[in-house]
Amino acid sequence: MCGIVGVLGNHEVAPILVEALKRLEYRGYDSAGIATVNGGALDRRRAVGKLVNLSDKLVHEPLAGKAGIGHTRWATHGGPSEGNAHPHRAGPVAVVHNGIVENFRELRGELAEAGIGFETETDTETVALLTHHHMQQGMAPVEAAYKTIDRLEGAFALAFLFDGQDDLIVAARKGSPLAIGHGDGEMFVGSDAIALAPLTDRITYLEEGDRAVVTRQGVEIRDANGSLANRAVRQIQIDAARVDKAGHKHFMAKEIAEQPGVLNTTLVNYLGTDGEITLPDPGIDFTAIDRLTMVACGTAYYACLTAKYWFEQVARLPVEVDVASEFRYREPPIPGRTLALFVSQSGETADTLAALRYCEGKADKIVSVINVPESSIARESDLALPIHAGVEVGVASTKAFTCQLTVLLMLALRAARDRGAIDADVFADHVSALRGLPALMTHGIDRSAVMQATARKLAEARDILFLGRGVMYPLALEGALKLKEISYIHAEAYASGELKHGPIALIDKHVPVVVMAPKDGLFDKTVSNMQEVMARKGKVVLVSNAAGIAEAGDGVWEKIAMPDCPDIVAPILYALPAQLLAYHTAVAKGTDVDQPRNLAKSVTVE
Ligand code: F6R
Repeated sequence: MCGIVGVLGNHEVAPILVEALKRLEYRGYDSAGIATVNGGALDRRRAVGKLVNLSDKLVHEPLAGKAGIGHTRWATHGGPSEGNAHPHRAGPVAVVHNGIVENFRELRGELAEAGIGFETETDTETVALLTHHHMQQGMAPVEAAYKTIDRLEGAFALAFLFDGQDDLIVAARKGSPLAIGHGDGEMFVGSDAIALAPLTDRITYLEEGDRAVVTRQGVEIRDANGSLANRAVRQIQIDAARVDKAGHKHFMAKEIAEQPGVLNTTLVNYLGTDGEITLPDPGIDFTAIDRLTMVACGTAYYACLTAKYWFEQVARLPVEVDVASEFRYREPPIPGRTLALFVSQSGETADTLAALRYCEGKADKIVSVINVPESSIARESDLALPIHAGVEVGVASTKAFTCQLTVLLMLALRAARDRGAIDADVFADHVSALRGLPALMTHGIDRSAVMQATARKLAEARDILFLGRGVMYPLALEGALKLKEISYIHAEAYASGELKHGPIALIDKHVPVVVMAPKDGLFDKTVSNMQEVMARKGKVVLVSNAAGIAEAGDGVWEKIAMPDCPDIVAPILYALPAQLLAYHTAVAKGTDVDQPRNLAKSVTVE
């Protein structure tokens, strides 16, 4: 969380920093700030709340200078206030930080003993104070910053700027990503390449433990041992224009609408014209594994839960699924012939990365399903499978979820084929169902107006339940998560069969119950659960296909008819009502859809 940026430029840097921060705002938006060096003098501006508040402030209190650093914050230590906003300053040092300095209390103790006081509750101020302290002991800026970095425990990406130095940024990475951008006589630092996309497409990713001295002439990188490190300059293809709303009211709406197109790209990258599913090198030998351990967080975790049904039912491979924050500390045994599979849109989620590292040397193979090919999780995997969703800006994940599901389904089918668990005709049917997905998604999106009408009613509710059975259960979980995160309505999801083991006590005439149930082999069971809800005056919203809706009979409060689809791809199609009901409910409530309160897109702290 938190986004950081740094520029050593040839023009006034404040507008460039703010523009780059806009592209990082998905990482946190509690407060923002920039610092510049102008004629040798260091100064800063900070503002609480969205970036627009900082922009407004800069209109009245401009900041000159051609060297600067900036930050957009997701609060960890210390609430969102101007005092706690970055950059933090101590004497001649300004620092921006993404991550958590875990030993900051110990360092504060040492500084306090040296008679140094504090102005904020943040861990980052400690970094600035310690560096200043080192400079007071006679160290030059780079040496002082490096000595500070050596003392820090935890996860961090840092950028330092110094009074009197308008051609120097010191940067460091441990646990949180950091990219160096190369321009012509200009240099840049950013939390990701997207932030730097309009400035440069030549990027060097710092590795774990790296620190860097950046000047307009270039960058000198040292590894954790202090040795000079030669890190590649990569040409990154990020179409800067893609990061806009393309006429939609919200990024989330745009990203929902993009799904037919991006799913097509995903399919084209894995499905050959011969009907086979091809994986990038070095591939996976599914005959050499006996089980799968899948780990992820949030929506990506629900993608794993869905895929468990596919891997077990179609490929006959036993699967364990866990949330990364639990998995990493549970010390689960990893038996031989295990494939460990990590799913992450950002590829930077701290818990998922830690879970991956736990599996290193234990699992036979580490595979990731990611959206950002340059991410830490991708780079630390034996095989990274890109989902090709394109940049996802909305904090609530949508197109990344359906692209994750699509890659996971292809992986399950490939496993089934390699292990001889499926016959050729059924395999070909499933592949053809996959090929039909983009058109199906277009038809599903066409039902948006019906969902909007239902959502207006849902917006009145205080609590909403979601039910699903079998492979629709994870979709119910996803529907509840999407709804609560952007509309702030309390929502819970249950496996339909669990209803009468407790949650049915919640049902009364005020509680809408969204039932995700295409007419499949389990439909009749779900209808029974629905009747139990209606018998207690619960208001059922049935999401099904025409046959299911016809069979459900009277008494259903709202009906959302989805196109008919092959069972195997139903979870991907039914992601749409999960997304669109939440989206329209949030819009009806007037919440901040793309940047819901308290959240951030890339969760780089545990
Ligand atoms: C919810 C959402 C989050 C993420 C989770 C994992 O809409 O987006 O639950 O799915 O934070 O993020 P990644 O996939 O980047 O590891």
